[in-house]
Amino acid sequence: MFSLEGRVALVTGAGQGVGAGIARTLAAQGAAVAVNDLHRDRAERTRDELEAAGRTAVAVPFDVTDRAAAQDGVATVERALGGTVDLLVNNAGVPEEMNLRQFREMDPGEWRRYVDLNLYGSLHCVDAVLEPMCVQGWGRIVQISSGAGRTGLASGVSLYGASKSGIEGFVRHLALEIAATGVTVNTIALGLMNNLPEDEASESIRALARRVPVGRLGTPADVGAAVVYVASDEASWLTGQTISLNGGSTTL
Ligand SMILES: NC(=O)c1ccc[n+]([C@@H]2O[C@H](COP(=O)([O-])OP(=O)(O)OC[C@H]3O[C@@H](n4cnc5c(N)ncnc54)[C@H](O)[C@@H]3O)[C@@H](O)[C@H]2O)c1
Repeated sequence: MFSLEGRVALVTGAGQGVGAGIARTLAAQGAAVAVNDLHRDRAERTRDELEAAGRTAVAVPFDVTDRAAAQDGVATVERALGGTVDLLVNNAGVPEEMNLRQFREMDPGEWRRYVDLNLYGSLHCVDAVLEPMCVQGWGRIVQISSGAGRTGLASGVSLYGASKSGIEGFVRHLALEIAATGVTVNTIALGLMNNLPEDEASESIRALARRVPVGRLGTPADVGAAVVYVASDEASWLTGQTISLNGGSTTL
């Protein structure tokens, strides 16, 4: 079960953190993985790691907020890995130098970068892969979101949360528009993560972990495992859903 042998996957923002974990897990299940990141060196580092583990991978650095670059990037993946992108994971979603700032303290010039990345960035990548998926009659689109898309927080993430809410709404509608094509579209909304295992011993991480019902923060490997299921043949009846992956932090 859950084999991804023969599938071509594109993971955005996979140069580090959650995206790198997703890329590792998909590759371990047999997918050929295109590693995207804004930063070439990060994309190449993840690609090198996958290749060193004996997997098939290619680095495709581009900025997902640039529609033409996303189209070119997908064409590069198709040439390099020899086929249609079967699986898109829209993971890039944290703008560079994201500051926690209350709405009243934000400059209106800051609003757009959240919308550009989480809405337009994901839309550009969906647009670039969707038609061939529908034509071949099989595809998986997985949107990575955050609990901030559904839960109000006072921590200074209003525009980040708004952009995540927006893309989650798009996923629901797109999923139903194409439900009969064999292409599924789902969101995985993450809770508090610890992307660096070496940080587990730090007091601030332990304090955050105490707020999570299962007693620990999420890891990139937790997210990778969930994406493998959603991407599998076995998940063909799952579409239009937002799955909360958060150690029980919210239960709706
Ligand atoms: N870390 C958390 O606690 C947490 C919690 C909830 C949800 N999430 C979600 O998980 C996803 C990954 O988060 P992370 O913590 O691994 O982030 P991260 O910042 O560690 O890594 C994200 C990567 O995306 C790349 N990136 C940024 N803008 C890009 C662009 N325009 N085009 C291409 N690549 C771009 C960055 O260069 C970076 O390498 C995001 O969608 C985020 O919203 C994270």
